[in-house]
Amino acid sequence: MSEPTNSTFRPRIFSGIQPSGGLTLGNYLGALKRFAALQGDQAETVYCVVDLHAITVWQDPQVLLSRTREAAAAFMASGVDPAQSILFNQSQVSAHAEMAWLFNTVARVGWMYRMTQFKDKAGKNSENASLGLLAYPALMAADILTYQATAVPVGEDQKQHLELTRDIAAKFNHDYGVNHFPITEPLIEGVATRVMSLRDGSKKMSKSDPSDASRINLTDDADTIAQKIRKARTDADPLPGQMDGLKDRPEARNLVNIYAALADETPDQVLGRFEGQGFGAFKPALAEVAVEAMAPITRKMSEYMADPAQIDAVLADGAERADAIARPILDRTKEIMGLLRTRR
Ligand code: TYM
Repeated sequence: MSEPTNSTFRPRIFSGIQPSGGLTLGNYLGALKRFAALQGDQAETVYCVVDLHAITVWQDPQVLLSRTREAAAAFMASGVDPAQSILFNQSQVSAHAEMAWLFNTVARVGWMYRMTQFKDKAGKNSENASLGLLAYPALMAADILTYQATAVPVGEDQKQHLELTRDIAAKFNHDYGVNHFPITEPLIEGVATRVMSLRDGSKKMSKSDPSDASRINLTDDADTIAQKIRKARTDADPLPGQMDGLKDRPEARNLVNIYAALADETPDQVLGRFEGQGFGAFKPALAEVAVEAMAPITRKMSEYMADPAQIDAVLADGAERADAIARPILDRTKEIMGLLRTRR
């Protein structure tokens, strides 16, 4: 067995967000807020705007450019500091695409067809989906394993893709008789790992939902946020004192979870204060907490967006630093696979 190629071991965290639409409160609570919290001396944090993933469904080129910068602005506005973390966009580091090809030869077609996200996105006419949409999880495994990352903070919806990443790493290590890729741990933690739609408590809050009222966008102003919360679907019952009492009330549970995540409290602490009260009292309080938490982020995002050259400079620097980690790991992977290398 060969040793992992990074000899000075410091745990590396990797995660990514697609620039395929405006980002939502779900992205913030499930991912961005936690990305910022994970920065520090304990781990090296590598964060990526995954533009190569976005193009697995049609993107208008001009819109994609602007959404890529907007996603980078959202990372920074949420507290990701380019001095502490590596922040870049995927297509600027070609190791991702190269590693994805290598993994296309390791992963099995059947694994890909089983992915629920593929089934959802491809819909009824899956024959007409792009080949990239089917192979998407191999690119995601490449993102993570090209950095030999050991932990990946994500929302609940990415769990199946991370399991597949582990399968690819294990099969590669087994087939080539090496210990080259780590078996990555998903970090799916907190009360907001699955923020639900404001209109339907059984559906995930998503940038692709046709109803704008179903989500809070990171670009929404204070009035819009308050109005969306006021109009959120709920029921007529008063709130119980503990989360157990919300088992069959998905919309109510979702709003309490959102409150708790925004206020850094537990859902039971929140309910402790609102026990016996109805949504007439709870919604304005939630709107206040949401506006207070989101307004600085929205403001910082528009400040960053006013200076695209600065965003581009951050991404260029991040890409250089990412490439310096990724390249030797990719080279070693090729060597293990018997791909002849004569250029130095
Ligand atoms: P994406 O772009 O759909 O979402 C980015 C992150 O936000 C989380 N998220 C949510 N969390 C809680 N509640 C929600 N309603 C909600 N909606 C989205 C997602 O779980 C994710 O963490 N395939 C990935 C991007 C990706 C990636 C990677 C992630 C590509 N390569 C490597 C980690 C590591 C995706 O489409 O996420």
